[in-house]
Amino acid sequence: LSNGLALTPPMGWNSWNFYACNVDEVKIKQAADAMVSSGMKAAGYDYVVIDDCWQTGRDANGDIIADPVKFPSGMKALADYVHGKGLKFGLYTDAGFTTCAGRPGIYSHEVQDANKFASWGVDYVKVDWCDNGGMDPQTRYTIIRDAMANSGRSILFSICNWGINKPWIWGPATGNMWRTTDDIFDYWQRVTWIIDQNVPLANFAGPGSWNDPDMLMVGNYGTGAVFGGGMTDTEYRSHYSMWAIMAAPLIAGNNLASMNQYTKDTLMNSEVIAVDQDSLGKQGVLVSDLGGLQVYSKILQTAGTRAVVLLNRKDAASNITVNFASLGLGSSVAVRDLWQKINLGSFSNSYTVNVPSHGSVMLKLTGTEATTGPIVSGKTYRII
Ligand code: DGJ
Repeated sequence: LSNGLALTPPMGWNSWNFYACNVDEVKIKQAADAMVSSGMKAAGYDYVVIDDCWQTGRDANGDIIADPVKFPSGMKALADYVHGKGLKFGLYTDAGFTTCAGRPGIYSHEVQDANKFASWGVDYVKVDWCDNGGMDPQTRYTIIRDAMANSGRSILFSICNWGINKPWIWGPATGNMWRTTDDIFDYWQRVTWIIDQNVPLANFAGPGSWNDPDMLMVGNYGTGAVFGGGMTDTEYRSHYSMWAIMAAPLIAGNNLASMNQYTKDTLMNSEVIAVDQDSLGKQGVLVSDLGGLQVYSKILQTAGTRAVVLLNRKDAASNITVNFASLGLGSSVAVRDLWQKINLGSFSNSYTVNVPSHGSVMLKLTGTEATTGPIVSGKTYRII
């Protein structure tokens, strides 16, 4: 969406994956505090987004009411608090009559709610797709897009209709991001299920308009309110590596106030974040897949460079090889490991590494754009 926002994938935190409906202003303030004190803000995360269950009803004027028990200070005061931390404030609504948790949706109150959100200081709105009476998503989201655009405030527009009616087709003109799948849960097979749906949509993403494979589960270990028994550290890091190479919005969904060191290291690796946030805005693509041993490549702004994820979907450790020609690079390439932050040296033609089961190795390759050579995947070439 050309509204000047989300020129790189949005970064932030959302209440749903950890708290679900059990959200209140104390928890949101705690998340904002922790976003600063943990270093997340310094790493680039800036949106604090309240998901479902903040609203109770409408007053006599039809104005949306924030739950007075859970949010006694009101949304304006909470937005001011978040802004006071140098962060941005996001809210959730639903395109239909009610939200997924049965709270009032935005239907027939689009302009009224958009103006109310703007008066509170909302910078980001996530719009869900429950209870919509079989309406057409593109039509509904276009109406809401226009209401937000005319609210007098710059509001990032996040479409959450779970991939229904191919939002990647009409999304780029309608929203800054659009969910491509049903909800993420906190287990590995759900993450790979999402990856396989989101990867083929690479060509629809770009600055201002991103495929959204849903919010992060990193660091929840099954303690969040959303279904799933948790993942291993290795799996969380693969989940994050894949979101970064897919140029996905990086919306954390864990308790920021109680992160262990591994979770911090996963969420705040500046070199991995730089891959996600690369200004060219190209989503990475699948280059090769040998029975679950996968190579993904993302073309970066600087000519002759690529980010690469080597992902082992097998249940045993295995070697994975990246062939430089398959990425459209010349034969001589300097290889850097982004998780370890070390230069591995210069290699000819290919690089091979042993990758643990469900693990990933994330690399930055620096070489030259190939002028000749086998076209393994036309999509991976810089000029397409
Ligand atoms: C469905 C969405 O996909 C989730 O991300 C979350 O917003 C819930 N609805 C809230 O009810």
